[in-house]
This record gives sequence, structure tokens and C-alpha cells, in this order.
Amino acid sequence: MTNKTLYDAIGGERMLARVHKIFYDKIYAHPWLKQYFAGHDQQAIEGRQTSFMSEKMGGPAYLGKPLPQVHENMYISKELYQLRNHLLAESIHEAGVPAALAKRWLKIDNAFRRQITKESIEDFYRDYHFPFKQRIIIAKPPLMGNNKTSMPDSSL
Ligand code: HEM
Repeated sequence: MTNKTLYDAIGGERMLARVHKIFYDKIYAHPWLKQYFAGHDQQAIEGRQTSFMSEKMGGPAYLGKPLPQVHENMYISKELYQLRNHLLAESIHEAGVPAALAKRWLKIDNAFRRQITKESIEDFYRDYHFPFKQRIIIAKPPLMGNNKTSMPDSSL
């Protein structure tokens, strides 16, 4: 065991940027997830996600907004979150990150699940009621079924 940070072990910003390009290509192509990102520049989002994870992995500091504040007006169910998680795991794997490091990456990412997801739509209505930032609630599209962008039933 060395004292190397996860950031250094995976190959630093270069690998983070590589994974996040693959990841957001999938998100921006996905019939459900892409709707949350409508109007948001993909490259800018990739850069912020890279900066965020860099800090959490022991690399340079994240200067963006706090996560709860960014996502507070979005209805993100557990199912949607798991779908994102599935695409992230695929992307990390496709970018060539070794399995043991991929596991550590996903563990860090998952530590933010509770800050982002809402237990139920009732909770979301109760907890979020600011009139100046509209709620974003996007229903799961029908027939999202048997293609590459859907999520396997086993991960639900
Ligand atoms: C299904 C789950 C998620 C959805 C639908 C989602 C959606 C979004 C959207 C639409 C934005 C742009 C918001 C804006 O700029 O006003 C955003 C920003 C961001 N998200 Fe997420 N997100 C999800 C989960 C996560 C998770 C788990 C993380 C971290 C581990 C994360 C990290 C970020 C960061 C760092 C930004 C940029 C913040 C900034 O503008 O400074 N997101 N997300």
C-alpha cells in the first residue's frame, strides 16, 4: 500500500476528463437523463464533475457550487440515481480504469447519493418550495426497455 491519492492512482485530471466525456455522452444520449440537462453545456458540466471528483480523490480543489444547492430543485428518485450510477460504472470501465480503483471511485460518488435523491415526490414537494427556482420533475419515458441505454432490471 502506498500513500498515493486515488487522484494520482487513476492518472489525475486526464483520466477524470476521459471518463466524464464517455459518461456525459451517455447521459446526453439517454432518453430520460438527458432531459435534466437540457440547456446545459455538456463540456461545462464535464469540467465541473471532473473538478468535483478531483477534490474528493485528493487532487486540486473544487470551486463550484455545493451539490445540495445545485440539485435541490430536481426530483431525483432512487431509480434515476441508480440509472446514472450504472452509466458511470460502465464509463469508468470503458475508459480502462482498473477494477479495484473503479470500486473506490464509485464508493466516493455514492457517498453523495443522500444529498441528491428524494425519498418520494411528497417529500420533494414538502421540502422544496422556493418560487424563484422552478421544480424539475421528469417522468420516466415509456418503452425505455431493451436497448443499450436502458438499465438492467437486476440493478433496480
Ligand atoms: C441522477 C442524478 C443526477 C442528475 C439528474 C444531475 C443533474 C445535474 C444538472 C442538471 C446539473 C446542472 C445544474 C446547474 O448548473 O444549474 C448538475 C450539476 C452538477 N452535478 Fe449533478 N446530477 C445528478 C447527480 C450528481 C452526482 C451524484 C454528483 C456528484 C457525485 C453530481 C455532481 C454535479 C456537479 C459537480 C455539478 C456542477 C455544479 C456547478 O454548477 O457548480 N451530480 N447536475
